[in-house]
Amino acid sequence: MATLNDFSVVFLLLVLSTSVDASGCSIKGFPLVRNISELPQDDYGRKGLSHITVAGSLFHGLKEVEVWLQTFSPGTRTPIHRHSCEEVFVVLKGSGTLYLAPDMHRKYPGTPQEYSIFSNSTFSIPINDAHQIWNTNQQEDLQVLVIISRPPVKVFIYEDWSMPHTAARLKYPYYWDEECLQATSDKDEL
Ligand SMILES: *[C@@H]1O[C@H](CO)[C@@H](O)[C@H](O)[C@H]1NC(C)=O
Ligand SMILES: *[C@@H]1O[C@H](CO)[C@@H](O)[C@H](O)[C@H]1NC(C)=O
Repeated sequence: MATLNDFSVVFLLLVLSTSVDASGCSIKGFPLVRNISELPQDDYGRKGLSHITVAGSLFHGLKEVEVWLQTFSPGTRTPIHRHSCEEVFVVLKGSGTLYLAPDMHRKYPGTPQEYSIFSNSTFSIPINDAHQIWNTNQQEDLQVLVIISRPPVKVFIYEDWSMPHTAARLKYPYYWDEECLQATSDKDEL
């Protein structure tokens, strides 16, 4: 049977978790149904990019997947990068180019294959394949919905396609996870 002390402990935990909420990084306190227009949107220091974490690991407590809504202005691109998670894109608006270097047996990515991506197209990036998304359309924004597995994402960035895989630089936490990952545990394995 619950005693008064049990209730005190529960109350204390509630107070503590509420004060953690103040950082804006807690998984608690979000309504179940959220208006995407009211979620935080930022370029996170990358000019021409708009990123919204629609459903996230650090923001919303998801364990298996994370969903982003990203808009690239004309000419804007991601770095050349790879990650050990699956990634699915749905192109909502605009068009552009996917560069993908699938051969992980070489010491470096090498010349990538080019794929045209277009409104209402979808594609998946295999685990650890180096890739880059580029809004090569000079007229229109490129908007994509992105789903990744195993969040939060750990990204290895290449300066060019001939950089050795072993020289790619780990960017973790990634730009939009920086604030919240530092607010939570640093013990997560890489
Ligand atoms: C969602 O948020 C936008 C921007 O604040 C607002 O204009 C819109 O009315 C909201 N939608 C609903 C259904 O509340
Ligand atoms: C995208 O494709 C689906 C399946 O063919 C179709 O139902 C939908 O209308 C398309 N959407 C746009 C914006 O073209």
